Amino acid sequence: MAEAKKLFIKTYGCQMNVYDSERMAEALAPSGYTLTEQADQADMILLNTCHIREKAAEKVYSELGRLKPIKAARPELKIGVAGCVAQAEGEEIIRRQPLVDLVVGPQSYHRLPEMEKTLRSGTPQVETDFPAEDKFDHLPSARRANRGPTAFLTVQEGCDKFCAFCVVPYTRGAEVSRPSARILAEAQELVARGVREISLLGQNVNAYHGAGDGSDWSLARLIKALARIEGLERIRYTTSHPNDMDEDLIEAHGSEPKLMPYLHLPVQSGSDRVLRAMNRKHTAEAYLRLVERLRAARPDLLLSGDFIVGFPGESDADFEATLDLVRAVGYGQAYSFKYSARPGTPASEREGVPDSVASDRLARLQELLGAQQRAAQQAMVGREVTVLFEKPGRLPWQMVGKSEYLHAVHVTDPGLEKGQIARVRVAASAPNSLSGVRL
Ligand code: 5AD
Ligand code: SF4
Repeated sequence: MAEAKKLFIKTYGCQMNVYDSERMAEALAPSGYTLTEQADQADMILLNTCHIREKAAEKVYSELGRLKPIKAARPELKIGVAGCVAQAEGEEIIRRQPLVDLVVGPQSYHRLPEMEKTLRSGTPQVETDFPAEDKFDHLPSARRANRGPTAFLTVQEGCDKFCAFCVVPYTRGAEVSRPSARILAEAQELVARGVREISLLGQNVNAYHGAGDGSDWSLARLIKALARIEGLERIRYTTSHPNDMDEDLIEAHGSEPKLMPYLHLPVQSGSDRVLRAMNRKHTAEAYLRLVERLRAARPDLLLSGDFIVGFPGESDADFEATLDLVRAVGYGQAYSFKYSARPGTPASEREGVPDSVASDRLARLQELLGAQQRAAQQAMVGREVTVLFEKPGRLPWQMVGKSEYLHAVHVTDPGLEKGQIARVRVAASAPNSLSGVRL
């Protein structure tokens, strides 16, 4: 038996990092590690980092600075940096912050137990290779007992799109899809542990093309196969590129009842000039037509998106075109960011717009998106939704769950349990959630 040790993981960034953090914890379990919520009690601290915008990347160094006194008090504590900052900066992290013992890129997590062993001899470990094997083949999956009713499942990693602003193709590498049989087996394991909703993850999840039964599976085919798992009630997927939204996937939104009517479909900008400069390879019009087709398949589909303002060369007219597109689509939810120049990306060599202009545009866009989000939530009042309850709320007998449209819904009813799915009539809309009564 390995000696009992405590592991603290702090996760930044996207849902794929959340999934990876779980896998890392499971990979280190045979080395004697159990998770702790308290950093000051840990034998090892792992920061699972994000490199997508400068602010996200800089957070890592400020967090490492905060760990200094803990490490000074307990020199045997091991500190590791994982995720996309680890991949992008490698050994540079240890040069900049010598308290770091371990740097591990997202493709190398299956090597963690071995790295941890070598680390005990006092040698810092850095691993940022893109190995030929699939890391998930070597990582234990879904072991955690007593989990909630929802889970993430990574089906695809990496990106070949090379949007001019984005570091993902460099930090996560080329698009790789996991074989369908592995995904189905992992889903079955999750369902056996009480999971009722699975969110399929990938940097470009709808570019999924996994091997299975001697042929090439699309995401739509994978979703349909997953839908046949008894006990799995809900399927979601994120995040998608408009150009990979194939006919069979659009059709699945209309024909597969377990596929939830919520879709995150980033467009980034509503200006064709900016879309071209971003290397998005589609026009605003093409995106709007796609939204029409999706809504024809599933009229109640709630759309979410990502937007960047202040991309190099973005004029006032370009920004107005983004506002026009937002008005034309009507988003239920969205994320918007000020452009951040990332090292090594083509756009980082172009001249940006003044920060004050970008801030002003971001405020205007967020005002519009915020109003749409509130309107979409308000429109739920009086309607019946189906809620998967995830955890108790703050009030007695209150439970919180998500509707099919991913709205948080509070219901007070003594008969509700975690993992239960119930029909609810929405009674009121608060800033970030709905409340209702069970039917
Ligand atoms: N600057 C600002 N936002 C970015 N995103 C990706 N790269 C950048 C960048 N350099 C945003 C995009 C993407 C989301 C995950 O993050 O909107 O869809
Ligand atoms: Fe980045 Fe574009 Fe790939 Fe999305 S599609 S991960 S924004 S390069």
